[in-house]
Amino acid sequence: MNNAPIGIYDSGMGGLSVWQEVRKALPEESLIYLGDGKNCPYGSRPSAEIRQLAQDAVEHLLALGCKLIVVACNTATAAAIDHLRESYPTLPIVGMEPAIKPASLATKSRVVGVVATERSLDGDLFRRTAARYGADIEVLTAVGEGFVELVEANLEHTEEAYARVKTVIEPMLRRGADQVVLGCTHYPFLREAFLRVGEEYPFTLVDAAPAVARRVVELLSRHALKAESGHRPEYRFETFADEAYRERLASKVNL
Ligand code: DGL
Repeated sequence: MNNAPIGIYDSGMGGLSVWQEVRKALPEESLIYLGDGKNCPYGSRPSAEIRQLAQDAVEHLLALGCKLIVVACNTATAAAIDHLRESYPTLPIVGMEPAIKPASLATKSRVVGVVATERSLDGDLFRRTAARYGADIEVLTAVGEGFVELVEANLEHTEEAYARVKTVIEPMLRRGADQVVLGCTHYPFLREAFLRVGEEYPFTLVDAAPAVARRVVELLSRHALKAESGHRPEYRFETFADEAYRERLASKVNL
């Protein structure tokens, strides 16, 4: 039993889509969300720089007493997960990667689209996952250019967001993709825009966040780290940006 918090980290607000799933799956666990904010977006930064940012973030969360870390950022996972696991060998760490496996099992057209940041798509992690699960299907990729900025500016429910999403995913839908994998934790906030494009070209949207929450549940049990039954959780929001940004993190999930 351990009432210490779980730390959830992202470059900005995107990991809140994971935070929501973790809270749903584990309503008695305290959560500390760290949205860097100061260095967002990470998407096209060099891997070495992202590794350092991720290390600083994990240090910050450990100093606050976190018992398990969720790297709720595909880009930081791609650049830093191996490094983090080497640096903290006894710390349970959960990373994010595009959900190609469920998409490859569900596709009928045998064409799967993956939308993610530049750094997630050009990493070894993505290459390995695509090779393992995408061997007998066609995997089409696209960078969600401008998506992170829209979510950070709270513009996800605008015509601009719809137009941007349509421009990026229309080519893969025209080529027959019937599954579109959200390969960045910011993108679930654009769900409405994706689904609107889907009215024209039907497809299934695939998000890894619920699977990540299940993995957190599993690891807490395995390491005997679950909070006491009846524990009243606390939710805290941290950032490397300013107080206004910190408040925006909390209000993005209506707290
Ligand atoms: N939310 C992030 C991800 O899952 C990073 C977006 C960014 O900072 O570019 O990839």
